[in-house]
Amino acid sequence: MSEPITPLSLGTWPTPVEPMPRLAAALGLGRDDLLIKRDDLTGLGGGGNKIRKLEWTVAEALANDADTLVTTGAPQSNHARLTAAAAARLGLRAVLVFPGEQGAGAARSGNLVLDAFLGAEIVFSGVTGQEALGDAASRVCARLRAEGARPALIPFGGSSVLSARGYLRCGEELKSQVPGLRTVVVALGSGATMAGLVASLGAERTLGVDVGAVDDARRRVESFAVPHAPDVRADDLRIDRGHIGAGYASLGRSVEEAMTLSAGLEGVVLDPTYTGRAMAGLVAAARRGEIVPGERTVFLHTGGLPGLFGHAEALAFAEDMRRTE
Ligand SMILES: Cc1ncc(COP(=O)(O)O)c(C=O)c1O
Repeated sequence: MSEPITPLSLGTWPTPVEPMPRLAAALGLGRDDLLIKRDDLTGLGGGGNKIRKLEWTVAEALANDADTLVTTGAPQSNHARLTAAAAARLGLRAVLVFPGEQGAGAARSGNLVLDAFLGAEIVFSGVTGQEALGDAASRVCARLRAEGARPALIPFGGSSVLSARGYLRCGEELKSQVPGLRTVVVALGSGATMAGLVASLGAERTLGVDVGAVDDARRRVESFAVPHAPDVRADDLRIDRGHIGAGYASLGRSVEEAMTLSAGLEGVVLDPTYTGRAMAGLVAAARRGEIVPGERTVFLHTGGLPGLFGHAEALAFAEDMRRTE
């Protein structure tokens, strides 16, 4: 039997929990009812939720004697950037495999700039779709092995049963930081962040806001959570699909509003793809009466700010706001 994996320490823990009194008041909640868990402040590589997951997946790669981390994602993937940062910290090589062709303008900015500083090798695979991207990454691994490297493939978005442990721990952190916690609101992409929280806090206390990164988000969350918490049922998961809009890379009205409220009332900047959608879900839940005064709600800030600077629609929106001032 193989040894159990011991996670690496790649971040700054525990991340702080802070009040959001002005946003709470604007949503009709008590000033102490709304808190923010700052997983954007995890440290390494600009920070974000992916660090907690990489502590496990990279530990597994090292246990398998890897010298190169290979992963996939959209070109503005925060997970890819933080995989590159983990590789830099540990003296490993990073190869990031993206769909499509290298773009121009905003498509070459944001996370891609940081990937370059972090020394990652970028492969634009020319393919589209998650399955084809997975095949492209496997071909890159085969090429690297033929060249004498020892690659480890870190799963899409860093999500697996193993990496969900990172957010199981975050759930435990939250229990001690926020007694009486009623609801935590989190962006749902590749699934293991929500899955770990569900495994720790239960399905009832975890509201995931789907960003539209995958077609089968509910099934993925269930599959990553159940090995840690066998009672979790897919039907019990609370998932809001109302903020996907025209798709993962687009900027909907509810997201614009959420980003504006958070920045304008609390000085907390969100990204258009993940945390902006998660906050839009929180605002909508408060307006529906699903989040009520007198109960403690936590917004989990999962990072992703560099993506804002690689998002043409968000940049155009900010430009329009400046004009109307
Ligand atoms: C900033 C940010 N927040 C949230 C998520 C979603 O996390 P997960 O993929 O574990 O569902 C991601 C993942 O891509 C992310 O980059």
